[in-house]
Amino acid sequence: MEKEDEDYLFTLAQDADSYLNSWNSLPTPPGTAQAKSMYEEMSKALLNAVVCLPASTKPEADGTTALAKPTPIGTVILGSRDAMRANNRAGFLGITIEDQYQGQGYGSEVINWVLDFGFRYMNLHRVELQTFGSNLGAIRLYERLGFVHEGRRRETTFREGEYVDSVVMGILEGEWRRSRGIS
Ligand SMILES: CC(C)(COP(=O)(O)OP(=O)(O)OC[C@H]1O[C@@H](n2cnc3c(N)ncnc32)[C@H](O)[C@@H]1OP(=O)(O)O)[C@@H](O)C(=O)NCCC(=O)NCCS
Repeated sequence: MEKEDEDYLFTLAQDADSYLNSWNSLPTPPGTAQAKSMYEEMSKALLNAVVCLPASTKPEADGTTALAKPTPIGTVILGSRDAMRANNRAGFLGITIEDQYQGQGYGSEVINWVLDFGFRYMNLHRVELQTFGSNLGAIRLYERLGFVHEGRRRETTFREGEYVDSVVMGILEGEWRRSRGIS
């Protein structure tokens, strides 16, 4: 992630529902300070990226073709919660796809790519994530990608007038290998 991506993080933070689900924040109007702290948090990760649709060539009026810029549609991080215990080889995943791009397979593709990177290149043993118990669509997606329910922290977060649970899910390297048919 480049410093210029901080601007995109500010844009992403305007997408209230996605932002609140991803960052467990209060629904206050996002400012550039929030984008800066998101950027700093992401910069500490093993892998952090703005997810983009590829640049494409588009015809200009004069008959030439110009390369349009990649279109940012979300962010992903693969972090390490405890840098002092790198021997545990555990990472955590965080992902946001912008509202208008959800449900089109991008999240699945990104998560598969990150798991591949984590297990095959970073030599991780497990990847975990945490989501709200109310985020049923995301939980279904994680289950489909092979994440296993590992625990539920009850009523951790007050949102829209009620307390919601936090759900912890994880996938081990062996499970990932078996489910993808990798020896
Ligand atoms: C969760 C998220 C990353 C999934 O990415 P995506 O690109 O929408 O996922 P895909 O298109 O690959 O897969 C669609 C599946 O995602 C799930 N999903 C979760 N939120 C969804 C949404 N808002 N719209 C559509 N599908 C959603 C559904 O289970 C769907 O599967 P289904 O066909 O069984 O209904 C994305 O919806 C998102 O960023 N949501 C807001 C932020 C968030 O909740 N982040 C996760 C915090 S742990």
